[in-house]
Amino acid sequence: PGGGRVFSGIQPTGVPHLGNYLGALENWVGLQNQYPSVLYSIVDLHSITQPQDPALLRSNILDMAASLLACGIDPERAILFQQSQVSQHAELSWILGCLTSMPRLRHLPQWKMKSKVKKEGSVGLYTYPVLQAADILLYKSTHVPVGEDQVQHLELAQDLARVFNNRYGDLFPEPSALLSSTRKVKSLRDPSAKMSKSDPQTMATIAITDSPDDIALKVRRAVTDFTSEVTFDPETRPGVSNLVTIHAATAAIGVEEAVCRARGMDTAAYKTLVTEAVVQRLTPIREEIRRLRGDRAHLEAVLARGALRARELAAPVLQEVRQRVGF
Ligand code: ADP
Ligand code: NA
Repeated sequence: PGGGRVFSGIQPTGVPHLGNYLGALENWVGLQNQYPSVLYSIVDLHSITQPQDPALLRSNILDMAASLLACGIDPERAILFQQSQVSQHAELSWILGCLTSMPRLRHLPQWKMKSKVKKEGSVGLYTYPVLQAADILLYKSTHVPVGEDQVQHLELAQDLARVFNNRYGDLFPEPSALLSSTRKVKSLRDPSAKMSKSDPQTMATIAITDSPDDIALKVRRAVTDFTSEVTFDPETRPGVSNLVTIHAATAAIGVEEAVCRARGMDTAAYKTLVTEAVVQRLTPIREEIRRLRGDRAHLEAVLARGALRARELAAPVLQEVRQRVGF
């Protein structure tokens, strides 16, 4: 389609945190108006690379659907769907896997990280970048919003588009990365690390469903330093700078403006201001998630319709792939 097609996926890990929202989902919402064709997938096939509780997975999928809708994903403008409901993802993944050499996979940074941590890891834990490539190429996507940490995985998708096109004739466009302009949100307890759902410290991460009291407590406990003035200098003052980042992003102002509004405040007083900005931003989202969680039939209907529309796009592409491969 003229103007391009956007694809992105998020794992159903339950309710997103503030870093996911400011670093990815807010950007997803904006892209709905900028591109004629947009697909967002809850990538549940990626969630079973490690042992998974089926009941929890099922409820996490619905929680993620509710969260995406509450954050502003509009199923009229974006195709919102659950990856496993479109079987073509798995099928294309196998075909692309057969075009991927082991050294190419081993070259990816995630491989090294995971082989250090999980000696007994599943095959899927190592080959999921191929599935990611299939997710993207299945729709002939041209633009993929990614975090910096995922750029090398997108490069695999680009490589596989080229490899397939060379072997079987031009079919896939080479997708390009859309990097989010938002700075990484850091852990509130350790501002040298990013805010992450895998952080065991509950005080380090703000969930988008946190109550105003929880948010106030977490921001109050956020690590700062011994200087009371508010300045933005991520290198030497990562803690207070993270608060400025969060303030600026949630209040939709620039970093300079955020520092300006903090003039004359010490960091303790500034934390109250940051709390207000976060609470104001998250309150409508939190309320909408609660409402949607109570309407499971609606969530399932949105996902069913999304899967139907995704399959309509995927089926002819996979048909063409099969024919080229010789099936
Ligand atoms: P997590 O690190 O919590 O496991 P994911 O890796 O699942 O989060 O990331 C989902 C999306 O959210 C990605 O696009 C990623 O770049 C973005 N993201 C995750 N954590 C942050 C953060 N702390 N700040 C900004 N963006 C983030
Ligand atoms: Na992660």
